[in-house]
Amino acid sequence: MRKGILSIGAAAAALTLGLTACGGESGDTSAESSGAPSAAAGDAKPGKIGVILPDSKSSARWETADRKYLQEAFDAAGVQSDIQNAQGDKTAFQTIADQMITNGATVLMIVNLDSGTGKAVLDKAKSQGVATIDYDRLTLGGSASYYVSFDNTAVGKLQGEGLVKCLTDKKADKPIIAELNGSPTDNNATLFKQGYDGVLQPKYDSGDYKKGPDQSVPDWDNTQAGTIFEQMLTQEPKIAGVLAANDGLGNAAISVLKKQKLNGKVPVTGQDATVQGLQNILAGDQCMTVYKAIKKEADAAAQLAVSLAKGEQPQASGTVKDTEGNRDVPSVLLEPQAIFFDNVKDVVADGFVSKDELCTGDFADKCTKAGIS
Ligand code: BGC
Repeated sequence: MRKGILSIGAAAAALTLGLTACGGESGDTSAESSGAPSAAAGDAKPGKIGVILPDSKSSARWETADRKYLQEAFDAAGVQSDIQNAQGDKTAFQTIADQMITNGATVLMIVNLDSGTGKAVLDKAKSQGVATIDYDRLTLGGSASYYVSFDNTAVGKLQGEGLVKCLTDKKADKPIIAELNGSPTDNNATLFKQGYDGVLQPKYDSGDYKKGPDQSVPDWDNTQAGTIFEQMLTQEPKIAGVLAANDGLGNAAISVLKKQKLNGKVPVTGQDATVQGLQNILAGDQCMTVYKAIKKEADAAAQLAVSLAKGEQPQASGTVKDTEGNRDVPSVLLEPQAIFFDNVKDVVADGFVSKDELCTGDFADKCTKAGIS
């Protein structure tokens, strides 16, 4: 029996995975409770890891960050991998999963497009002895052996608190708030909303803020977000603060505000610390974003996947309740960070975006003001 402790990253919480090599004599029942099939147990050669990303439009992160960091982690571990993107197509998602399994994947990591289709993919994989990981989005009622993400309610809380800070800085009086929520089929969007409504609802209740339009954006579609926000602003021209659930939705709102010369006057939130979101912050058009250190998320997930590919049965440090499946899913959750003008530099210092891509053209001066050197 071999027992080892793997430590991922430094700063984030809940980052220790205890690894237990499989083999019944360990007496460790957690292996069973994880439900992970021991795909390549005893094999000298590790199995192959398949990853399906959701799309490349709802956020820049999937292609610019997640793919890159996952690939680097698999390569560093010397394990074969195949990372593909379903481009928002649920049928393609299932086809990619089937092909990956046919081509020898023994571990499948997915970012679902919705829980229903995600569950079908996970269940099918599991029935074929393939170990599964929910990456970033929990598949409600699903059967993934592990879940790796950020504390998504904490993400929403930072957004709510960030909007309050920006409105306070602007000395806003009884501001009308618009909420532009993420996809109704993404469990994360539900958690983000729980987080920010936890901050905003008491303000609505006390009369400090006035609740304005509140709408979800199907599939996080940025174009639809623009149309929705345009309607919101027509219906309620005095919107004074926008809780946008990610940088793409925030940018859609900013584009509409610009047409009314309201950009910079109406604070807008975001998430993902995308180059566009950070530039909107530097320009003063966006109030804040939430930085999620995706390298740590990718490393944590890759570490689990590599261990599974070697036939081990890793143990995650915590669990997350899948309320629909009434199941405690072994999980790793990381801590997000709020980013305002003054600490955009932290995201650059962390290597998530480079000064070269951020500080282009007119942004060069603003970068200097924000202390990005
Ligand atoms: C992710 C966000 C992302 C959004 C749209 C969410 O599930 O957690 O980081 O912005 O999906 O892709």
